[in-house]
Amino acid sequence: MRITDLEVAGYERVARAEEEASGLTAYISVHSTRLGPSLGGMRLWPYASDEAALEDVLRLSRAMTYKSAVARTGLGGGKSVVVADPEDKSEALFEAMGRFVADFGGTYITAEDVNVGIPDLRAVRRSTEHVTGLTVEEGGGGNPREATALGVFLGVGAALLEATGSTELEGRTIAVQGLGSVGRLLAGHAAEAGARLVVADLNTERVERAVDELGAQAVAPDQIFDVESDVFSPCALGGVLNDETIPRLRCAVVAGAANNQLLDETRHAEQLRARGILHAPDYVINAGGIINVGCELRPGGYDVEYAMERVHGIPATLAEVFARARAEGITPFAAAQELGDAALAAGPSGSG
Ligand code: NAI
Repeated sequence: MRITDLEVAGYERVARAEEEASGLTAYISVHSTRLGPSLGGMRLWPYASDEAALEDVLRLSRAMTYKSAVARTGLGGGKSVVVADPEDKSEALFEAMGRFVADFGGTYITAEDVNVGIPDLRAVRRSTEHVTGLTVEEGGGGNPREATALGVFLGVGAALLEATGSTELEGRTIAVQGLGSVGRLLAGHAAEAGARLVVADLNTERVERAVDELGAQAVAPDQIFDVESDVFSPCALGGVLNDETIPRLRCAVVAGAANNQLLDETRHAEQLRARGILHAPDYVINAGGIINVGCELRPGGYDVEYAMERVHGIPATLAEVFARARAEGITPFAAAQELGDAALAAGPSGSG
């Protein structure tokens, strides 16, 4: 395997690996280990070019630094990307990837991401111990979706408290976009709390299930932005808060699991604020997954009760974000960035 280090300003270590035998082309980026070893998922994607893969790994690893800093996981930010078609996945490819991860000596710890699941991570683990996200039986923390959904649900309450003075969901309407791993569980929590659900998904089977099992009202995927609701919860794609959708929203709060919801982090956060809509920054409200995997690295190993207790800290973090935004007259997204910067400046001892 040929591993080549790349000098990238502001990043601790960025490297590219290439191996003919396994067909591996991949990048690992460690943005920061200031608060602990860097942790972030392994994404497999048929990138159009090496430049596109590098750009993605740099952006994603930096985002992980902030996500973990604000969530106080005691971890730094890193990420890896494998340049491949999902159809060409093989054990040899992931074993090779494990050797690449091993080269980082524990400064980068990997986990699941797009197109990489538990069976793939098992192959990675044959070459390195620096892997999280395996099943509880295997010493991991299991699928992070439950922790993510619980965190988002609790975060919806925190956002409602800021916007309306009450966390109560009973009788309120929540419009959920995307009923996948996280959206479906979130919808279940919300229904249990007495909320009225309006849902949309491209997958009609998932929609029908929510209608049958949770009493949800279904709308066409493109209509979810127009639903009159208390909370709009994007749980599908990134970039859904943009010039076209923001003017259409008829909600008090946007709070959902999807990563990178704002197409433009500054301008679209400002647009929401100008419309009087409270936005829960995605990487703060959806941190349940990283909090959960982070708990695998504790000295005593993973403990579900401890992990859930930590996930219950998400509303307090959001409250801190909203209070800062209010006090400084800035968007919650900008306030979250400031909290991340402050945690990084304080260093490991300040991040308990
Ligand atoms: P998933 O792939 O299981 O579910 C996504 C759902 O959205 C699918 O049912 C899909 O059909 C639907 N969808 C796609 N395009 C749509 C559209 N235009 N309109 C309506 N529905 C649409 O993904 P998962 O795991 O539930 O994650 C959802 C979001 O949360 C993603 O953005 C993910 O990056 C983010 N996230 C997930 C975490 C996890 O623990 N799974 C952790 C942190 C963030």
